[in-house]
Amino acid sequence: MSPITTERLSDDVGIEIRDVDVDRLLHDDEIPAWCLDALEAHGVLLFRELHADDDAQVAFGRRLGELVKFPHYANPEVMEISFDPGNPSAKYFAANDHWHLDGSLDPIPAKASIMSARVTASVGGETEFASTYAAYDALTETEKQQYAELRVVHSMSGVQRRANPNPTPKQEADWARWPVREHPLVWKHETGRRSLVFGATAAQVVGMDPDESRALLLGLEERATAPDRVYRHSWTVGDMVIWDNRGLVHRACAFDRSEPRRMHRSTLAGDEAIG
Ligand code: OGA
Ligand code: MN
Repeated sequence: MSPITTERLSDDVGIEIRDVDVDRLLHDDEIPAWCLDALEAHGVLLFRELHADDDAQVAFGRRLGELVKFPHYANPEVMEISFDPGNPSAKYFAANDHWHLDGSLDPIPAKASIMSARVTASVGGETEFASTYAAYDALTETEKQQYAELRVVHSMSGVQRRANPNPTPKQEADWARWPVREHPLVWKHETGRRSLVFGATAAQVVGMDPDESRALLLGLEERATAPDRVYRHSWTVGDMVIWDNRGLVHRACAFDRSEPRRMHRSTLAGDEAIG
């Protein structure tokens, strides 16, 4: 395979990939395995100003694995992330500005997400990424032992309440329709690596006093997402980013929501439950 030049984007997370255009993503036989390995090693892959259209993004995604279907969208393998009132999921996206992993309420969370910028905000609207593998590795040995068996309840109302602190009864009823799921705090991956599972849906450590639980979960989140541990991507139209959803948390940064920021996201189905 002809060489691919990469450049690190931050200490813990992310590489920018040069020398790869849409044609190569779709036709180079060695690209899928190379990308999956790079994703496992670096968490975030950035293809600057790639300008992959929806068809190219989907075709590339299918080379990496199975894509999740979003039946409410015209192209069900491309979810539109925007606050456009016509967007069927717009009401949920306000919560994207809290640290999270995608699909933490699903039986098996997404493996990775592929997102391209179609319209960017004039100010803000970056996306931030932080490694939850690095978060685990940075724990003290005592903490690793203390947290080894802890379990955490995740829920939709936990996350949505952060974005809508005074919900209407209708909103509460909507959130209550989502499953409540329990995950271990420490994910022991099939690869042998370990990561921490926290973020916006993490509501309560099982069996722990609520104040203590909140302090623990927020404390872990704060340490893992300290500015020097984060890669913040400032989007240019045409940028495409892939993130490893299993070993990272991410969030959207604030922007004026009356502006038409629009991202197109395809999601690689996961094949490993958090365990
Ligand atoms: C997502 C997400 C962040 C952003 O689409 O899952 O969290 O910056 N997006 O739009
Ligand atoms: Mn997300």
